[in-house]
Amino acid sequence: MSLCTLMATADKYLRPALNGISPKFAVRVYSPGRKIFLKMLANESLDGRSVVPEKYRRTLWGIDFYSTLMNSAGMFKHGEGYETAFRQGAGAYLCGTSTDKPRLGNAKFGVKTPFISYPYSGASSNWMGLPNFGHDDLATRIQKIEKHSLCPIGVSLSPQPDADSLEDSAAGVVRGLNIFDKTQADFAEINESCPNVPHDVACGAKNAPDANMVARLEIISREFLKKRNRNFPVIVKFSNDTDPMLVPQLLECLVSLGFDGVNFGNTSTDYDKLHPLFEEQDLPALDYFIKNFGGGVSGKVLRHKSYELCYTALANLKTMNVPQEFRVVRTGGVAEYSDIEKSEHVGVDLNQWFTGYFEAFAEYGHDLYTQILK
Ligand SMILES: Cc1cc2nc3c(=O)[nH]c(=O)nc-3n(C[C@H](O)[C@H](O)[C@H](O)COP(=O)(O)O)c2cc1C
Repeated sequence: MSLCTLMATADKYLRPALNGISPKFAVRVYSPGRKIFLKMLANESLDGRSVVPEKYRRTLWGIDFYSTLMNSAGMFKHGEGYETAFRQGAGAYLCGTSTDKPRLGNAKFGVKTPFISYPYSGASSNWMGLPNFGHDDLATRIQKIEKHSLCPIGVSLSPQPDADSLEDSAAGVVRGLNIFDKTQADFAEINESCPNVPHDVACGAKNAPDANMVARLEIISREFLKKRNRNFPVIVKFSNDTDPMLVPQLLECLVSLGFDGVNFGNTSTDYDKLHPLFEEQDLPALDYFIKNFGGGVSGKVLRHKSYELCYTALANLKTMNVPQEFRVVRTGGVAEYSDIEKSEHVGVDLNQWFTGYFEAFAEYGHDLYTQILK
């Protein structure tokens, strides 16, 4: 048993106890603790590559994926952990999110990048605020990866939340895409949905996609997508709080601008709707975190939202004239075989997981992809 597996197993018992003693204490332990754990995970020395059934192989945009399941953005923020992901049998690897200029991320009450998990509900909250070292740094790290076949590299990038203007925020993304285009990254994901920074998010719009966000996507399309001279697909990640009624308009926008796919999606701040989905034992910790930090909620409580949004997107795409290869990615609450089964049933092309990954790691260790993808 590796050290990480041992720690994850011990943590299964520790987490309920810590939350029970004091959510305040749990945030103080888990916010730095998860970063230490991730560093160790990225440095695990593993042999071979776990095998997943061939039926889950995907060729998307002409790129070969080992399977339909991979990590979501924020897990390997700084380009670490590729070898671990590859050996565990991940379908692909996603690093980032990076922004044009480095960011420290959020801090409050002396806690940097606050995080807590809710063990009874398979969920978590974070108020990270996009800490990262910037596009240039991430690009350098991507170039150092020893890449393997059937484990493509994706990179997540976001508009600079504190950019001076809409044009500046778009220019930062275009600059990032041009930088990553010259690396061994295979595809990019634009994060238009971080709830922990001031952002022009689609989920905030009531009747139409946010006008600023659309204007930014138009600039990115004009200045990058239309000028691409290699196969470098770009997808856009929206919030799981997106109103399903907005999906047709968001798709029209992405398809007409030449984007290559959509990801539903990011964390949720729809606390009132999420509250009843939590197990009672987790409510004191959830209420503490929301009251003191706010933040975005992840995990199993999102699985219905991500499914509904992907289902709606795939149904709409069938009725639209889509000239390019346009893919639907599901993120949010993917944790078990039944989630993959449901995704397969409606035709989701790729699934990403974050919270579910750690739940599965505690259960199965490095064999998690093999165990989930039966
Ligand atoms: C600690 C943490 C950090 C995250 N950082 C990012 C990020 O940098 N960029 C991003 O697009 N999403 C980020 N996310 C959101 C996840 O990628 C994912 O969309 C969300 O957690 C829902 O998936 P899940 O239910 O599988 O966790 C983060 C989530 C967590 C828990």
